[in-house]
Formats: sequence, C-alpha cells, structure tokens
Amino acid sequence: MEAAVQQTRWLGKAWKFFEVTTSTQDEAKKWVQEGAPHGALVVAEEQIQGRGRLGRSWFSPPGKNLYFTVALQLPSSSPPPDTLSLLAGVAVAEALRSHFNAQVFVKWANDVVGSDGRKLAGILVEGFKDRSGTDWALMGIGVNVNLTEDELPDELREIATSLQILLGRQLERFQVLGAILVSLEAWWEDWAKGRLERVLKAFDALDWLKGKLVRLNLPDGTIFEGVAIGVTEKGHLRLRLSGGLERNFPVGEATVRTEE
Ligand code: BTN
Repeated sequence: MEAAVQQTRWLGKAWKFFEVTTSTQDEAKKWVQEGAPHGALVVAEEQIQGRGRLGRSWFSPPGKNLYFTVALQLPSSSPPPDTLSLLAGVAVAEALRSHFNAQVFVKWANDVVGSDGRKLAGILVEGFKDRSGTDWALMGIGVNVNLTEDELPDELREIATSLQILLGRQLERFQVLGAILVSLEAWWEDWAKGRLERVLKAFDALDWLKGKLVRLNLPDGTIFEGVAIGVTEKGHLRLRLSGGLERNFPVGEATVRTEE
C-alpha cells in the first residue's frame, strides 16, 4: 500500500486501508465528515455492500481486485460535475494503457472496457456537502485485476472482464493502484483548472461507443437507438437518432446494438 502512494504529490497521501468494509464510499464520506483532507484515499480488500451506478451492486470479492475511493474537494467554479466520471475513466484507461499495455477504452458514462466491450473497471461519483458547505466528490473506482473467467459469476461472464483475462498474466494490485493514482492526480489538476477540453479530447480518442449503433435505456424505461457521436461538454452522450435528429442524454445505460 505504501508503494502505491509514493509517486503522487497530494493524492492518496492521507489513506486508510480496510480488510473488509461495506463500501469504500461509506468510509470516505464518514472520514470527510470527520475532517479528511482533499485527496484522501480509502482502499478496501473486500466490500460487502459494494455499490455500482443506478442502484446496482459491485462484485467485490477479497484478494483479487481494487476497490477504492478518493475524496476530492470541488473548486468553487469547476466544470460540470457529470464530467468527473469522464475524467476518472480517462485517467484509469490511460494508466492501464501506458503502464501495462492494456488495450482498454472508455465507455460513457463511467466504464473502462476491453476491446470486446466487456467491462473492466467501473466508476461511481457521489457528491455531498460537508458541514461547512463545501462540495465534495467521492470518486469510487473498482478495477477487476486478477479475476479469471472461472471466478466471474455466471451473470457477469458475458459483460465483465479483468486485466488478467486481457493480458494473460497476474498483476501486482498495488502497482496498478499506484499507476492509476498518478494519472488521476494529473487529470484532476487539468479538470480543476478548467481545462475540460483536454479531458474531452482524451475521452474522444478512447471512446469505445463512438460511431457505433447504440441502444440507450433511460432510468424511466424509455429506450432510444442511435449512432453515438461523442460526449458533450456537460458529459452527456450525444446520439444521432434515426431520421437524423441529434439529441443529448444526461443519464442512461448504453449498450452496443448487435444484430438480433
Ligand atoms: C459502476 O460501474 O456502476 C460503478 C462501480 C463502482 C465500484 C467502486 S468499488 C470502490 C467504490 N466503492 C463502492 O461501493 N463502489 C465504488
């Protein structure tokens, strides 16, 4: 764990490690309420109530993966909060590409996927105000590192993957964490200084959905289909619907449409 936070300047310099917890999001929130500094890091070996986006759970067995949350204090004028999960996706994907030569991509809104579209990492950004009224983002990141195909539960086998499956070898988890933290620190600095265009450009270059025919399920059950054009500066997905109309979507679950 110490090695993982050695190469950053401020991110993760204050950290807590839990053998088991409900969710690193809960621990980070508690810690911020008790006075955690900007950039505080919470890591868990196992989560018994790991959370995903849209009320889903996150598969969090011990000893195999990375589960961590960084607590970030939002600057008074910052880019739209929905762009934070784009920033995290770019940071994770770039770290995995440059350090481990993993062919990974970002998938709107909050996923990192392999070239077959199976998900390797998920990002959950939750915002809240502390007692003094300061806005915080709790950026939770789960990365499947050393899971084998056999260790994936049946319901995840078609949709999830891991670095071990992609690369054909085991990785040292804290080395992966260290690489992600260094990348995240640099990307956060760009974002917080208002250089959102750099994040968007990097997202665009790694955008797995772009140009593909996508089915988008909205939380109210409505379904749209269209070709993904990219992501807007608010962090919304832009689709060209049949008939040529272009429309932005702030939230939803996107899947690539395969012929039925
Ligand atoms: C998603 O893809 O839906 C987001 C998954 C986020 C999982 C991470 S693991 C660390 C942190 N703690 C949680 O309970 N969730 C996030």
